[in-house]
Amino acid sequence: MTAPILRIQHLSAVSDLEGGAPILRRVNLELAPGEALGLVGESGAGKSTIAKALLGVLPRTVRLTEGEITFDGKNLRTLPPKALRQIFGDEIALIPQDPLTALNPGRRIELQLTDGLRMRRKLPWREARARALQLLAEVHINDPERVMRAYPHQLSGGMRQRVLIAAAFALEPKMIVADEPTTALDVTVQKQILRLIRGLQEAHGTAVIFVTHDLGVVAQICDRVTLLFSGAVIESGSTEEVLGTPKHPYTRALIAAGPRYDRPGAGLQPVPEAVIAQLRADVAATDGRPGA
Ligand SMILES: Nc1ncnc2c1ncn2[C@@H]1O[C@H](COP(=O)(O)OP(=O)(O)O)[C@@H](O)[C@H]1O
Ligand SMILES: [Mg+2]
Repeated sequence: MTAPILRIQHLSAVSDLEGGAPILRRVNLELAPGEALGLVGESGAGKSTIAKALLGVLPRTVRLTEGEITFDGKNLRTLPPKALRQIFGDEIALIPQDPLTALNPGRRIELQLTDGLRMRRKLPWREARARALQLLAEVHINDPERVMRAYPHQLSGGMRQRVLIAAAFALEPKMIVADEPTTALDVTVQKQILRLIRGLQEAHGTAVIFVTHDLGVVAQICDRVTLLFSGAVIESGSTEEVLGTPKHPYTRALIAAGPRYDRPGAGLQPVPEAVIAQLRADVAATDGRPGA
C-alpha cells in the first residue's frame, strides 16, 4: 500500500455513561489516498464513534484511552485545537446520516454551499457562486439555480443529500467520512446516492470511509472493508478477499446469512446466536484481540 492518508493504531475508547464500558478495543485501520473503505458492523459496534473521532466531534462522555490517529502524517490526538479546526472541514469532510438536520433550515442553499469557499478558500462571492453551481451540476442536480435559491425544507431528502455531497467535496478534502449516508432515504434513491458518491470519489481522488451496516453497500462501492464487532476489528482486507474468502466465522456467518449484494439497503440478515455468543466471549476475553 502507498503511504496511507489515514492510519488508526490501537485506538481504544470507553463510555463514561456506562461505567467505563469499552466502546473501541485497540482498533487498527488504514486508508490509502483515493481509496474507499467500508467500515461495517451491527448497531452499537462503534462505527460512528470512529467517525466522530476522525471529525473531532466525540461526545464528552466518550473518552479515548489509548492509540493514535495519524492523518496525512499528523497525529490528530496531539495537535493543538487551532490546527485541528483547520483540518476538520477543510481536509476532512463529513457526509452525514440525516441530510435535514445537517442543513440550517433558515438559510438558502446558496449561502450554505458558498460559506466554506468564501471563508476557508477566500473566493470572492462571484467565484464561490460559480463553483457552487458547478458542484450542484456534478451531483446531477438539473436546475442548480432553483436549488441555490431554495431553503432546505423545499427540497426532497434525496436532493438535500446531493447538496450535502456537493458541500463535502467543495473544498477538495483529502478524506470524506460518510456515516450511513443513505439510511434516511427511500430505497430507490439509496442506490443512486451511493453511486454518486463513488463516482465523485473516483473523479476527485478522495479517500472515503463509508460507515454502513450493509455488506451490499461494501460490495458495490468499496475497495476495502474493515469489519467491527463490539468495538473490535474482526477482519480487514480487500472487498474481494473479505467477501470472497472470509477468514473469520462472524464474516462467514454474515455472508452465509444472505446479505443481498445486488440490493444495497436490504441490510444484514440475522447471524446465528451461537456465532454471536462465541464472538462476544472471545472479544471480552481478549479485550479486542479475537484469535490472540
Ligand atoms: N454519547 C455517548 N456517550 C457514551 N457512550 C456512548 C455515546 N454514544 C454511544 N455510546 C456508546 O458507544 C457504543 C458504540 O456506539 P456507536 O459508535 O454509535 O455505534 P454504531 O455507529 O456502530 O452503531 C454504543 O453501544 C454506546 O454504548
Ligand atoms: Mg452509527
